[in-house]
Amino acid sequence: MVIESVECKDFRNYESLDLKLDPGCNIIYGQNAQGKTNILEAIYLSGTTKSHKGSREKDMIRFEQSEAHIRTIVRNEERTDRIDIHLKKNGKKGIAINTVPIKKAAELFGYLSIILYSPEDRGIVKNGPAEKRRFIDSELCQIDKIYLYNLTNYNKILNQRNKLLKDIYFNPSLRETLQVWDDQLIDFGRKLITRRRDFLAEIAPIVSEIHRKISGGTEELCLKYEPDVEDIFFADEMIKNRERDLKYGQTSCGPHRDDVFFSIKDIDIRKFGSQGQQRTCALSLKLSEISVMESSLGHKPVLLLDDVMSELDSARQNFLLDSLEDVQTIITCTGMDDLIRKRFPVSKVFNVENGVAKEVT
Ligand SMILES: Nc1ncnc2c1ncn2[C@@H]1O[C@H](COP(=O)(O)OP(=O)(O)OP(=O)(O)O)[C@@H](O)[C@H]1O
Ligand SMILES: [Mg+2]
Repeated sequence: MVIESVECKDFRNYESLDLKLDPGCNIIYGQNAQGKTNILEAIYLSGTTKSHKGSREKDMIRFEQSEAHIRTIVRNEERTDRIDIHLKKNGKKGIAINTVPIKKAAELFGYLSIILYSPEDRGIVKNGPAEKRRFIDSELCQIDKIYLYNLTNYNKILNQRNKLLKDIYFNPSLRETLQVWDDQLIDFGRKLITRRRDFLAEIAPIVSEIHRKISGGTEELCLKYEPDVEDIFFADEMIKNRERDLKYGQTSCGPHRDDVFFSIKDIDIRKFGSQGQQRTCALSLKLSEISVMESSLGHKPVLLLDDVMSELDSARQNFLLDSLEDVQTIITCTGMDDLIRKRFPVSKVFNVENGVAKEVT
């Protein structure tokens, strides 16, 4: 899968942007705050309908404008697709595939698969379980339509159940309806737990291998899924926790509380890892997705690496650059580092200055 071009109008600090990308490696360089990450955000939005930074839609529209447009042309073997995203200050965003508007974001599934690494991804390792779940969910939603469906339903039912728990406090007769929600929550929840377990078992050896290589063979990373409750015990735990749930108005057990444990030589990386270790760990996680996506979707994703070079020592940079074969890559950096020129066949270079991107030769 290859992005041929990205066009933006009134997106972030771009009045207009038209990038013709190379199928190989593309470097976008420029000083701080010029608009490098904004380009990656526009691409990510085209693939997933969301900002990787979790930004609100109206915040991505250029200041003082009321609409923003992004058009991405994606080639996948013989096919070429056009994805249009239309953000509106006072309204719901519009998405169209090949000029046909779609109603649900899920319809975009498979058109543009993205892996994005950004410096904040260290949070997947460093921060609490919510970030870990967010990583698993965002990756799984890109490769598994059924997971996306189950997750959407689980979250919807969880919200409704929590609301009901609070309502029961004021209206105890509603208690009779709780079981209906519990049954559905358990049903969808068990599917999430099983899929997450399989996914982590699949990526664990790949992540570990990548991490071992990036660290020059010095570090063995272990990754372990820690579900809040095992799928077979979920129903029993719901019954056990019911009184507590009613008391606090919250669902206290389930996959919305799952965690993932990262360790190197039995040391908890979340608590004791160095910054570089945590970053390498997050990067290995993201890179493992290339082969996972290829085997589950039948095509390679597009890899976006935001400011990755400044974070790694030169040995780690070398491995990274050497390993990026056969996948369209867009790397942002603050300067055209010698290392990049020397080690890597860069196909296209763009310079970004104050919301204007120019190809340089
Ligand atoms: N909605 C918006 N309208 C106009 N400008 C915006 C908007 N949102 C962000 N910006 C501007 O975009 C710039 C930041 O862009 P971006 O994050 O892409 O920078 P960058 O080149 O990646 O910088 P760094 O090297 O620091 O990561 C800032 O100057 C910011 O003011
Ligand atoms: Mg940036």
